[in-house]
Amino acid sequence: MLEVLVTFVFTILIAFTVWFWLKVAFLVLLVVIIYPGVYAMIKGAPFVPSMDKAIKAMIKLGKFKKTDRVVDIGCGDGKVIRKIAKEGVKEAVGYELSIPTFLLARFRTFWSGGKEKIRFGNFWYQDLSKYDVIVCFLLIEAMTNFEKDVWPKLGKGTRVISNAFKLKHVEITEEKDGVYLYIKK
Ligand SMILES: C[S@@+](CC[C@H](N)C(=O)[O-])C[C@H]1O[C@@H](n2cnc3c(N)ncnc32)[C@H](O)[C@@H]1O
Repeated sequence: MLEVLVTFVFTILIAFTVWFWLKVAFLVLLVVIIYPGVYAMIKGAPFVPSMDKAIKAMIKLGKFKKTDRVVDIGCGDGKVIRKIAKEGVKEAVGYELSIPTFLLARFRTFWSGGKEKIRFGNFWYQDLSKYDVIVCFLLIEAMTNFEKDVWPKLGKGTRVISNAFKLKHVEITEEKDGVYLYIKK
């Protein structure tokens, strides 16, 4: 009788311990998956895809050449960089930090057979000066940080194409349908 009772108590204890660690593992996984996306939302912008009209304006303003290396900083589902890749540029890269959005972008690239490269990462920690064109659709605070930290490091002739949000102290080269083109002098 005592043996049965001890086995029963042990089984209950083990079940509770396993359940506890399963809950901890689940919470850790949740934080790992959600944290980068929340960071991206606050430090860059939430995922809101550019409208088709804005994408057309980006393509028009970009006047993309075969030699251009283009990066979309915060590429979302990759729609913009995919369209740009189709222009036949040398390199089309999209950085995305939100894990679900990154996976969606990767899946769409795989599905469409696009030439764009979708990379998981924080664009603030990338060397953006190696690109000829930088495309973005980021909130005003991110644009302020971009102007302070990234813009001064860009080489002469680098084009920055921003959907909706302006750089405060840089002269706009051209504007179309709420999309702004800046060329570094
Ligand atoms: C407004 S959406 C624009 C998506 C796409 N560029 C477009 O125009 O359709 C901004 C995207 O930037 C991503 N993002 C924000 N901060 C980021 C960062 N530091 N590194 C990488 N991606 C970031 C967000 O997760 C979001 O998907």
